[in-house]
Amino acid sequence: MFIPLPFTNMLYFQLVIMAGTVMLAYYFEYTDTFNVHVQGFFCYDNAYVKPYLGPEESSAIPPTLLYALVAGVPTFVMMISEAVLFLIQYSSKELDGQEKTIQTGDCCYLNPLVQRTFRFLGVYTFGLFTVDIFVNAGQLVTGNLAPHFLTVCKPNYTALGCQHALIYISQQEACTGNQEDVLRARKTFPSKEAALSVYAAFYLASYITCTVEVKGTRLAKPVLSLGLMYLAFLTGLNRVAEYRNHWSDVIAGFIIGVAIATFLFLTHVNDLMHSLYSSAWPHTQLPATYSATSQ
Ligand SMILES: *[C@@H]1O[C@H](CO)[C@@H](O)[C@H](O)[C@H]1NC(C)=O
Repeated sequence: MFIPLPFTNMLYFQLVIMAGTVMLAYYFEYTDTFNVHVQGFFCYDNAYVKPYLGPEESSAIPPTLLYALVAGVPTFVMMISEAVLFLIQYSSKELDGQEKTIQTGDCCYLNPLVQRTFRFLGVYTFGLFTVDIFVNAGQLVTGNLAPHFLTVCKPNYTALGCQHALIYISQQEACTGNQEDVLRARKTFPSKEAALSVYAAFYLASYITCTVEVKGTRLAKPVLSLGLMYLAFLTGLNRVAEYRNHWSDVIAGFIIGVAIATFLFLTHVNDLMHSLYSSAWPHTQLPATYSATSQ
């Protein structure tokens, strides 16, 4: 099961993929390697004249808070749950001498708790960066305009010859406003905040639903999961309420977040739970055997 060589190779392979993903996300996020598609607009277009409520930092859910929650809460919850699950298993004498030594192979001893926790966190982190890449690619390729676009763009309608609303302005230099704000107002579809928050909520909800098998959690688990989804939903709503995104941006963000979380959970984590639990703790976690032993 835990043959050292393929495991180590797999680990390197995964680290390379992870590094590539992080680098791509970095290039999208912090460099102008990729240019945003410059969309034109109709003069006085009602869809883009909403008020500008200041930079992202003055939002009700500023980016730093969102990123901290999205990175911190699932990490914290997963580490605590894994530790508690391990202690429960350990104290209920499931881990006898044979299973403790199963991991002490040749090269690297990793206690099953640490290994499982690392994998859950690794898959989660990989997913975060993947969501970020999907969202950034969408934003740059479409160049969709924010609801407050014309407010920050401040086009000189006289100079542009806008006698009526049906004139289409496609010049890149049509905006006289703050170039940084204009650039940000060109990156809206899909909404990154919606995608990241729903990804975190969905992954964590799936994790809680699938792994935490403690008596008395029958009601607590769905309540907790729905609570998380609700917070993610509110994050998306706030984007629309602050005129930073259209409905379509938020919905597209939700779809990306749910899709990536579901995909990762179905392909990787489900597999991981079965293989690790059935090898390390044969009598407990699989639902069928669990209900049998709990009687
Ligand atoms: C707009 O353009 C016109 C014509 O080029 C110019 O006279 C006017 O000063 C400009 N207005 C602003 C606010 O820049």
